[in-house]
Amino acid sequence: MVLDGQRRRELMGWASDGGMIIEDDYDAEHRYDRPPVPALRSMLAEQVCYTASVSKLLAPALRMGWLLVPSRYQDEFVEAKRCADLGNPVLSQLVLAQLMKSGEVERQLRFLRKRHRRRRDAMMDAIRTHLPTAVVHGAAAGLHLMITFEHDLPDDALAAATLAKGKVQPLCWHATSRPARGAGLHAAHA
Ligand SMILES: Cc1ncc(COP(=O)(O)O)c(C=O)c1O
Repeated sequence: MVLDGQRRRELMGWASDGGMIIEDDYDAEHRYDRPPVPALRSMLAEQVCYTASVSKLLAPALRMGWLLVPSRYQDEFVEAKRCADLGNPVLSQLVLAQLMKSGEVERQLRFLRKRHRRRRDAMMDAIRTHLPTAVVHGAAAGLHLMITFEHDLPDDALAAATLAKGKVQPLCWHATSRPARGAGLHAAHA
């Protein structure tokens, strides 16, 4: 979820008192109806490890991403990474750098945003038509929607029934305890 202004301020206050935030800026570039929320990293570089990848922008099989660590941990981090996996292929990183420099990544993003928005809108229309009591969350960004129902409903059975037709998961798969009331689905639109 996207933290609201108050929660972000609280989190930043906590980090300024010595906490370390790992900011997984996953899907941040896939937004449709709202301006970007600045990364915490841009405001607190020494308290935030920032991570993202090209999995949803280019292809997950590239296995390429990045981690920006506070400068005091940089050497240690580079050493730990080297010990963990002896490094990543350089050629694909150079190609990505070139795509970023040339503006191709931005172009790809504009193309994807249009396509994902179309798919998201189609999914919202279908939900409004076929599940009029459902509440949709998180539609402004990302490649998934979260759908909840006011009444108690066996969401695993509902997801099993729809799984054959799309990428739908019951929210109970993602919960540590069953919510007191209601049920929900997590559905991919892209
Ligand atoms: C919360 C979150 N962060 C990061 C990722 C990044 O995954 P990948 O290793 O494919 O870049 C995912 C993938 O689904 C995710 O759900």
